[in-house]
Amino acid sequence: MFDLDGVVVDTAKYHFIAWKALAEELGFEFTLEDNERLKGVSRMQSLEILLEIGGLQFSESEKMAMAEKKNTLYVSYIEKMTPEETLPGVEKFLQELRTKGIRIALGSASKNAPMILDRIQLTGLFDVIVDGNSISEAKPNPEVFLKGAEKLGVSPEECVVFEDAIAGIEAARNGNMHCVGIGDPEILGLADLVIPGFDGFTVEKLMKELKILPKSKKLGECPELKEKENRPRS
Ligand code: G6P
Ligand code: MG
Repeated sequence: MFDLDGVVVDTAKYHFIAWKALAEELGFEFTLEDNERLKGVSRMQSLEILLEIGGLQFSESEKMAMAEKKNTLYVSYIEKMTPEETLPGVEKFLQELRTKGIRIALGSASKNAPMILDRIQLTGLFDVIVDGNSISEAKPNPEVFLKGAEKLGVSPEECVVFEDAIAGIEAARNGNMHCVGIGDPEILGLADLVIPGFDGFTVEKLMKELKILPKSKKLGECPELKEKENRPRS
């Protein structure tokens, strides 16, 4: 199961431009460091964080209008995205999963996920899409991934989640799924495995690193997995 922003494609730069424009309009500065706090966070929660940085308060209807305005600017960038913007190695890895008969779901907080997948021409590689339009609980709540597993018709324990945000890794763990962090191991230490990206990554490496068992084996027969299952959840 794949997160979208920061895993399949780098949209953080476009979110940054759009949030920064809103902050400037409101009279304060929004930095790249601030932007890190918005990764994996829903649109309205991102706005709350932004307003907290600016020390400003608004009514619900004003906040809705601001989020709408930010989204309009953000969409003006993502609608120009091209397949070249897919992160290195992602398409190859997705293709390999398909060839091996492994089903693929998207689990993203973004309401713009369908448009982004369409622009980078990867929609067809996903068997199931769960995005911000079909969930009510934000990560670290596991809802998005549990829905994905349900739609795929597999149990959570059989799923591997690929995530770049701490909240997403927590969501995977809260949902009892294996989890691969994409990025810095210092930040994503909660994941079962952390890789810098998909370039050179293969299904064989995944199986080996995560010690995933053939389907016929039961969890109890593998001490390493049993131990993993017993680790405290956050
Ligand atoms: C992803 C991104 C967040 C973004 C959220 C909602 O989780 O990492 O930065 O705020 O999606 O995106 P949306 O496109 O619905 O505003
Ligand atoms: Mg992400």
